Amino acid sequence: MKIPTLLAVMAIVTGCTAASETTIPVQNPDLVAEGEQLYAASCAECHGADLRGTDKGPSLLSEVYEPGHHGDGAFLVAVVGGVRPHHWDFGPMPPIEGLTPEDVEAIVAFIRETQRVEGFEPYPP
Ligand code: HEC
Repeated sequence: MKIPTLLAVMAIVTGCTAASETTIPVQNPDLVAEGEQLYAASCAECHGADLRGTDKGPSLLSEVYEPGHHGDGAFLVAVVGGVRPHHWDFGPMPPIEGLTPEDVEAIVAFIRETQRVEGFEPYPP
């Protein structure tokens, strides 16, 4: 991995400080439809079919997951490497097997589109 890439990944991993207002652009509908299927199969169990969380994982509509706070790269890092608990008390997120980076891109498009339409919940709730 090249140094600038490494720094970018580190910024993603550690960049949990400044919240910022970000306008989410309309997402590609084909990608959103594909992402919805993948999300339902791989993420909904913990993050909820409506993204609003379950007793196993947080709502992805929390403002802590807005693009200016958790960028798209944070999703790939989370899926590939799992997440140690730091924002909530649900315990760790395991790495999610069997998804390509393109799959994660589609899932992110679905999540961003839902965030755009539904808006954000305050954090902490
Ligand atoms: C087994 C339950 C589980 C599954 C399945 C799961 N997650 Fe998570 N996820 C969690 C938990 C718990 C956290 C919160 C960790 C914390 O306290 O910050 C989390 C956090 C995250 C975060 C925030 C990462 C960060 O840097 O703070 C993202 C992004 C995320 N999940 C995306 C996904 C996506 C996309 C999928 C499907 C491919 C998925 N999760 C599947 C349990 C799960």
